[in-house]
Order: sequence, then C-alpha cells, then structure tokens
Amino acid sequence: MRIAYTSDLHVDISQRNWELVPYLAEVLKIVDPDVFVIAGDVSPELGDLEYALDCFASLRCPKLFIPGNQDIWVLSEEMQNLGHDSYEKYYFFLPEVCRRNGFVPLWMEPQVFKGVGFAGSIGWYDHTHGTGTAAVAFPRDYHYLLDSIWNDMRWACWTDISTMVAEGGAPVKRVDFEVAREFNYRLDQDIEGLSRDAAVREVVVITHYPPFDELSVEGIPFPGSRETGGVLFAHDKVTVSISGHIHDRRDILVRNIRAVRCPVGYLRREHQKYHEVVKNCLEVIHLIDGEDLLPKERA
Ligand SMILES: [Fe+2]
Ligand SMILES: [Fe+2]
Repeated sequence: MRIAYTSDLHVDISQRNWELVPYLAEVLKIVDPDVFVIAGDVSPELGDLEYALDCFASLRCPKLFIPGNQDIWVLSEEMQNLGHDSYEKYYFFLPEVCRRNGFVPLWMEPQVFKGVGFAGSIGWYDHTHGTGTAAVAFPRDYHYLLDSIWNDMRWACWTDISTMVAEGGAPVKRVDFEVAREFNYRLDQDIEGLSRDAAVREVVVITHYPPFDELSVEGIPFPGSRETGGVLFAHDKVTVSISGHIHDRRDILVRNIRAVRCPVGYLRREHQKYHEVVKNCLEVIHLIDGEDLLPKERA
C-alpha cells in the first residue's frame, strides 16, 4: 500500500501557498497513491479549506483529512463571545466540508483499507504556554511556532460548556491539558477499536501535533502531548505516525514506529517552479503487505 502525505498547506498565508495546491494535485495524479493524507493546517477560513480539498477532486483514492490548530481557529472575538468555538468547527463544520469534497474526516470516522487501519486526531498539547516558552530563543526559521502559540491562545477556543449555562456568562476556555486529555482518550478508543479487528494487520495514526519528543526541533520546546505518544506505543499494531505542525521534513524510527512528516509550510518568494516545490512537500510511504514478506510455512 502506498500512502501519499503532506500537511501545512497554509493557503491563506501567501499567493504561492494558494497556487501550489493544484500542482500538488497534478503530481498526485501521476503518483497515483492508494491513500492520500493531509495532516492539518490548511486555513482558518472554511472557504479556503473548501478550495484546497476541491483541488484534489479528480484523485480517486481514499482521501483522509485531520485538522490542524489553524483550521480550528475562530478568528473573531465577537463570534467567540456568541458561543461559536473550536468544538463547533472540529465536530461540525470541518467534517461537513470534508465530506462535501470527497475527504474522510478521519478524527470522526476511523478507516480500514486493505487490512490497514487509519485513525487520527488533531492531537493538541498539554503544557501551559506563555511566559516560560516566550523566553526560549526560537531560531529564526521557527519563529512561526512562537506565533502559533500566541495565536492559539487568542483564536483556539475550546469552550467549557458548563460556564455557558449561566445566562450572560462569557464563555470560558478549557485549559490545554484537559483538551489534550480528551483528544488522547478518543484517539485511544479509535485505535483500540481498530486493533481488536483481526482483519487489521497494522494501524497508521495521523495527528497534526507531533506525538513524539523525537520529532521536536532542537532548542525548541516539544509542541505536542507526550500522552499522545503513549497512546501510540500502547497499541502493538501501530506502525506509522504521520504528523505536521512543524514545518520541516522528518522520517525517523521511534521504538517500532516510523514517524514522518512532509509539510508545505510558509512558502517564500522565490523563483523555484511549483513542480520543484511539490517535490519537497509530498512524500509517499510504502507499507509492505505482511503476507508478501513472510516465509511460506513449511509443510
Ligand atoms: Fe503549520
Ligand atoms: Fe499547526
């Protein structure tokens, strides 16, 4: 099975990011994968996400999407005060946009294709951002990660529903570790369900935030939840982790799990042709069918 993956399309960030997507789709048609994965961060605007997913309309294989932090932002304090929040996007608007454009909202519907299970989640993080983090010197190329922290504090809005019961009460945001725990729990359940299925040989897990410390950038605090990694390790059938958020490529082995990412990131103004750019932000992982490799049983 050949799984093509990318992440962090950020079509709202620049004209080049926007214009790259049809080229990605064109190259994917030639690659002709068995499954295509986008691991989050397309745009906070639903219309932009609609545009990006629609670019892949002619790709016939199963297409899986997982939202990133920027996809769940609610970019208006007024809207937040009216009770519109990231849960509404995560559980209602984003799945709707996915389904309308031929993508599976994987965090809502785990999948099995040819004996390979797929489960996913945005991931989130369980540390408290702010003063401590700001003091860390972020290398220039990774300044966007610091921006991401401040923007999440403002635009990510996981509302504590219990605070909205009192009439007129302003919505109170849940703290990050509670959000992470909730998503980790749900991911664990999804992987457990796939693992129990005897027909599932292995499980690929897709998260936006990186699940392992080893995926961090040196000198920058780990931006995910270590419990997400724990969830992956707890299930023997998990063989591959695809993530995003950090804008550089990775392909490493963490214990027995192959952990990869291949983001687009924020494209700079340069003269490189889009076809060249695509080569750096689209990767294919091959899963070899177990039975093909096992030695034939002796009589
Ligand atoms: Fe990103
Ligand atoms: Fe992100």
